[in-house]
Amino acid sequence: MARTATASPTVRAPKSANHLEQLTRLVNQTLERLLPRSAVSPQVVHEAMRYCVLSGGKRFRPLLALGACEAVGAPARQALPVGCALELIHTYSLVHDDLPAMDDDDLRRGQPTCHKKFDEATAILAGDALLTKAFEVLALPRTHSDPAVRCELVWELAVASGGHGMVGGQMVDLWAEDHELDLNGITRLQQLKTGKLIDFSCQAGAVLGKAPRALRQCLRNYAHDLGLAFQIADDLLDVEGTVEEVGKAVQKDADAGKATFVSILGVERARTQAHMLADQAIKHLDPFEEKADLLRAVARYVVERRS
Ligand code: IPE
Ligand code: IPE
Ligand code: MG
Ligand code: MG
Ligand code: MG
Repeated sequence: MARTATASPTVRAPKSANHLEQLTRLVNQTLERLLPRSAVSPQVVHEAMRYCVLSGGKRFRPLLALGACEAVGAPARQALPVGCALELIHTYSLVHDDLPAMDDDDLRRGQPTCHKKFDEATAILAGDALLTKAFEVLALPRTHSDPAVRCELVWELAVASGGHGMVGGQMVDLWAEDHELDLNGITRLQQLKTGKLIDFSCQAGAVLGKAPRALRQCLRNYAHDLGLAFQIADDLLDVEGTVEEVGKAVQKDADAGKATFVSILGVERARTQAHMLADQAIKHLDPFEEKADLLRAVARYVVERRS
């Protein structure tokens, strides 16, 4: 893993969308090398893992980890392993989210969902294997030379992705199909479902760079506001986006009778709120000065994206 990272091109101070694309390619190359080859037995599960991870995706969470690492003064590429671990967990959550028992979706990242391409059992197992692979990557000595740092990363990712984090949020999300939630309830749901992994993405950079407590708190505040902005943007795209743009079904939330930020606030107020939250997120980055330019670019991208 670290061999991949050190052999990669130098990561310079980000200034543009071009730079985000360059880093996204770096993440993709690292993921490509980390995943088991399709030819390795048992082939189907490895083929399914590669199919789901390498099929696209914005790589938003890895970019946050790279950006946070750079913000605290460490090289962005140092966060490539943890960024890939995040993408593996995120992809597993999407594979399971798309299953008939959950959202029952046929399209993801512009191609058939894992259970459509393979079958349900393979999708469950590929998701399980991606989840466990993420922790394998974090535990690798090459992820960080200090075992205490690796241990903290494993611990924090476990908390962020389990019952007190993403999985808990998914449970509340299903429950909310038959129950009315107000704005506070939805905010709480989204903070678990989406926010906890986004928070971890930023904290991971701080852990790798051994950042002081005050800077960690700034990143926590940034992640809090950006996580909400990100979810509002996802809800808006569900209402306003096209299947071609987003690569997944649209109008799903309304069809499922789910209350979202958009159903409660309306499209215009939701959009204003997302931009306001992104601006607020960027303000939390002041102490990092120009070292946080990548995180600023990611925040702007989150609310301007069309996919
Ligand atoms: C979609 O996440 C699911 C949510 C948490 C809202 P992304 O919008 O990051 O999906 P990809 O990774 O780009 O496909
Ligand atoms: C899924 O949320 C979030 C996780 C997988 C944690 P959604 O169900 O809103 O995501 P999409 O819209 O299918 O990508
Ligand atoms: Mg869902
Ligand atoms: Mg879904
Ligand atoms: Mg959605």
